[in-house]
Amino acid sequence: MGARFIGWGTAVPDRVVTNDELSLTMETSDTWIQERTGIRERRIGGTAKSLGVLAGRAALDDAGVRAEDIDFLVLATTTPDRITPSTSALIAHELGLDCPAMDLNAACSGFMYAVRTAYGLLETGNKRILVIGAENLSRWVDWTDRNTAVLLADGAGATVLEYDPSENDLLSFVLGADGADADLLTCEHGGFFTMDGKEVFRRAVRVVVDSAQKALEMAGITAADLSLIIPHQANVRIIQAACQRLGIEMERAVVVLDRYGNTSSASIPLAFADARANDRVHKGDYALLTGFGAGMTWASAVVRWSR
Ligand code: ACO
Repeated sequence: MGARFIGWGTAVPDRVVTNDELSLTMETSDTWIQERTGIRERRIGGTAKSLGVLAGRAALDDAGVRAEDIDFLVLATTTPDRITPSTSALIAHELGLDCPAMDLNAACSGFMYAVRTAYGLLETGNKRILVIGAENLSRWVDWTDRNTAVLLADGAGATVLEYDPSENDLLSFVLGADGADADLLTCEHGGFFTMDGKEVFRRAVRVVVDSAQKALEMAGITAADLSLIIPHQANVRIIQAACQRLGIEMERAVVVLDRYGNTSSASIPLAFADARANDRVHKGDYALLTGFGAGMTWASAVVRWSR
């Protein structure tokens, strides 16, 4: 059994919101946000559906496949447009897909959970899966709460995974969830995101390091073999702390949160796209993709690019 990534796509809203702009309406500053998070600006606008459609279409084009070639759509989103119907059904319709479609919510681990789910769907006879991570976090942000408003943003990313009996990009997965920590980062129906940032930070580093070490071991490689780490983009200090514990220099980490903030399940594909645009993705190289989020949830995977 093998699965290859055959195409990628992303979408972000046009509207750029800088730290300076946020500091006009809440007690914060560009200096504080950059020093404590690494974020300079973020994109705000659109919906999970509108951004997901754009990213999904771009991934289909990049893969050189048509809507009818897709056997399943898995959409990772924390912020579906409606409680029902699923946003994936709306996206599938817009893209002209004629296949099953489902939403999956694992917060910021969502994209890797969706990739894992797609891998399982390929194992059971599907040929090509469209995986999308699309978020409209800004809709659920209290724009007077500097704890969350400086971090969260909107965006989408997508990939097409194809069954391949001879090549395999996905060497290992380690996923987990622990609802005991549910209240650390939560959003009630009709409410806003609330977060214990310090505690989320501490636990995030712990679960990323732990799941990454297990994923490396399962893939039979060490951190020294990695050409890249493509982490969830929440806070550059979380990425630095995890890399330091894993023995990975920051030069090998892909960081795009300075431009996009935390886009939850869109952040790993946005980071991948940046790495590819900067010629950092090469055939045969190993990469660690790792995420964590509300739940808490976590997900690490070791990838070896076959193209
Ligand atoms: N602007 C200015 N000052 C601020 C801000 C702000 N936006 N936010 C907090 N402060 C103040 C605090 O009030 C505090 O002031 P005090 O010392 O007078 O009490 C001081 O800055 C330090 O606050 P801390 O909370 O200790 O700041 P910290 O360094 O922990 O950074 C942050 C806060 C950025 C939230 C950090 O803890 C973090 O990134 N945590 C992880 C968050 C995360 O990853 N969330 C996403 C999870 S993924 C998902 O599922 C969406």
